[in-house]
Amino acid sequence: MHVPFVDLKTQYQGIRDEINAEIQEVLESCAFILGPKVEKFEEEFSRLHGADFCLATSSGTDSLHLALMALKVGAGDEVLVPVNTFFATAEAVSLTGARPVFVDCEPRYYNIDTSLIEASITPRTKGIIAVHLYGQPADLDPIMEIAERHSLWVIEDAAQAHCAEYRNRRVGSIGMIGCFSFYPGKNLGAYGEAGAVITNSEDLYGIMRKIRDHGSSEKYHHELIGHNYRMEGIQGAVLSVKLRYIEQWTEQRRKNASLYSKLLSGIEGIVTPEEMESVRHVYHLYVVQVSRRRELQDFLNSNGISTGLHYPIPLHLQGAYRHLGYEKGSFRTAEAQMDRILSLPMYPELSPSMIQYVAEKIREFYTGDYEV
Ligand SMILES: Cc1ncc(COP(=O)(O)O)c(C=O)c1O
Repeated sequence: MHVPFVDLKTQYQGIRDEINAEIQEVLESCAFILGPKVEKFEEEFSRLHGADFCLATSSGTDSLHLALMALKVGAGDEVLVPVNTFFATAEAVSLTGARPVFVDCEPRYYNIDTSLIEASITPRTKGIIAVHLYGQPADLDPIMEIAERHSLWVIEDAAQAHCAEYRNRRVGSIGMIGCFSFYPGKNLGAYGEAGAVITNSEDLYGIMRKIRDHGSSEKYHHELIGHNYRMEGIQGAVLSVKLRYIEQWTEQRRKNASLYSKLLSGIEGIVTPEEMESVRHVYHLYVVQVSRRRELQDFLNSNGISTGLHYPIPLHLQGAYRHLGYEKGSFRTAEAQMDRILSLPMYPELSPSMIQYVAEKIREFYTGDYEV
């Protein structure tokens, strides 16, 4: 059996007619940048996440940069970032000229360790980026409480957490600005690069709207230095179609995760994901911790099962951040996990028999005779 890591083709085949019709309309109207399809998507996406405002953008990375620009982050500022996130979270901070200050993750849920945040705050700290890693919300209550006490803002990096919930509230609109990615493999994926920001602040919405379009709200009148962070019309059209399915797809991801966890329980050497109390984990990734990872990956690969690593190198050990002066040993939890984490195939179209096959092969690796 072949179990790919993601399967965008099968998803497209299921919604092909709706997608093709919507794309055709964009082609006929020639509304290639922003336009009515993008506006419709913005309205629908803000409603889905319980936010007052949404701006569709050109990527998740651009959304983060846009949010930081709107909050006037710049040289001399510091922003707290979990050390085990995707590079773009910190990269966006660096693009403003500010310095990312890394914070270790906690061992059970992989999100920022809230007990370590205060020790990282200095007079230069402007805010915290809370990442909802793998689709599980970060523990926002203590994060918001610390931020308020120190007059900091919170940006939510919800690139992996569409429709995730923290204490019955959708993520993204709990902090000051929520940033989403619609990279094709994400839970809500475009057919190219795309992203969005959501907020309840009308002021920030107005500023971000200008920054997204070269600092202007009227053609050729530029009030601010901005960027080109506009969404393409085709992406808005594709995303609006996919929004009709997102709740059903999210539930399917949760069911798939629960079947994996049931079938993998009791295998020595495997730690399955844990859900925090009062959250809705949306399983962008199903990440286990394993022993003998390299060998297991090779074994699964030789049996037609693709796996991933999210992420193999924590940010403080990345070449691009050598100048920040962190050393190996600075972030014990992230470093202990980096050689043990393994992402198994996860998407709504994954069938129970595929999950069974993956679990069987893992069991066979740890208990049976096999040859790589
Ligand atoms: C946590 C996180 N932040 C930011 C991004 C950047 O999003 P994009 O690839 O759309 O720029 C990603 C996407 O991979 C991500 O997973």
